Amino acid sequence: MGLPFLGETLSLLWHFKLARRPDAFIAGKRRAHGAGAGIYRTHLFGSPAVIVCTPAANKFVLQSADSFGVRWPMPELVGHTSVVNVEGASHARLRGFILAAINRPSSLQTISTVVQPRVVAALAAWANMGTIVAATEIKKVTFANICKMFISMEPSPLTCQIDRWFAGLVAGLRAFPLDFPGTAFHGARKCRRKLNAVFRQELEARRKVDKECDDLMSGLMHMEDEQGKKLSDEEVVDNIVSLVVAGYESTASAIMWATYHLAKSPVALAKLREENMALSESKAGSPLMITHDDLPKMKYTAKVVEETIRMANIAPMVHRVANKDVEYGGYMIPAGWSVLVWVRSLHTDPNFYHDPLTFNPDRWDEPAKPGTYQVFGGGYRICVTSLAFGNSRKL
Ligand code: HEM
Repeated sequence: MGLPFLGETLSLLWHFKLARRPDAFIAGKRRAHGAGAGIYRTHLFGSPAVIVCTPAANKFVLQSADSFGVRWPMPELVGHTSVVNVEGASHARLRGFILAAINRPSSLQTISTVVQPRVVAALAAWANMGTIVAATEIKKVTFANICKMFISMEPSPLTCQIDRWFAGLVAGLRAFPLDFPGTAFHGARKCRRKLNAVFRQELEARRKVDKECDDLMSGLMHMEDEQGKKLSDEEVVDNIVSLVVAGYESTASAIMWATYHLAKSPVALAKLREENMALSESKAGSPLMITHDDLPKMKYTAKVVEETIRMANIAPMVHRVANKDVEYGGYMIPAGWSVLVWVRSLHTDPNFYHDPLTFNPDRWDEPAKPGTYQVFGGGYRICVTSLAFGNSRKL
């Protein structure tokens, strides 16, 4: 389990941040202890922990809601009533609201109508800028889209400020929870208070003038459960904040990696262009907007998306905590221990993906082996956007 108190935290950081060989961390464990049941004991970020890293062990943890719960170091940063923080019936109710707000065909249609003109305008602007830092520009356009879709805000000094508050909040989520002036965690709490204030103000302003907007905030404000009960203001704000945290960097990273791989894979780029140009030509005379109905026709595009997300490993692991002593494969996971579902090792395992570190959209001519594609997690907390994607639906 490594050094006292520090455990294997330094080794993990070394593999991820300095050596940039994250898979070597697990490979070392496999070498030392054998592949076995795919379950290893360690100590990370101040807590004894168990790592699971096989399709069967991951499924066991992700699907056992009673045995494994969620635990954020400081729940107030994501919000006590956020979907990522609550359990049981409250989780199911909130998740239902969010799925209805973002994952219905009509919501996906609205999202695509908002997103496309901005992306087209950004591409045209980049072409005129010569050299760009793709990651920076992609983040800008992604955030502009999020502000429009979630709270109907156009880019302004206020949205720039909101972007900075989110950056401060996310920095605190990744830091040790030391709360005194100057720490990332302290800064994150301040940012969270500012975000609360700005979203609350927006909520109240809408209510005062009975303003209707076609956005996520209005969707969450007006939804009712079977008993006709609506979300409280706190729930609306906590979940808007959580959805930005969950959806902003993940989407910007995915687009950035797609750009990177396509720039390095002229054959894949040519095939992608061919499919999209054919679609565009079939729409001659009408606005060249991709609609929800076009998605099934975009088979190669879907493969590029699957392959990009597989290789990017945007969420390399999913965090749980053992609610009670749990036995798995002849081993005991003690109550209170962290459990890390190490999904990235599935996506880079040559037993599941031939030549796994090569970008090859054509590998998706065949679906992945069951349980080996967990980019969106799994079980009752699988990402709320996962149904919008192709292959993950079949798994
Ligand atoms: C490529 C992009 C994305 C990736 C790779 C990704 C990945 C994930 C993963 C691995 C989980 C599971 C976390 C867990 O089990 O604890 C998750 C959950 C979640 N994701 Fe995503 N995500 C992406 C985009 C988004 C977007 C765009 C949104 C919102 C607009 C979003 C909203 C959520 C929410 C709300 C949850 C929590 C669901 C729950 O607890 O029931 N994600 N995501």
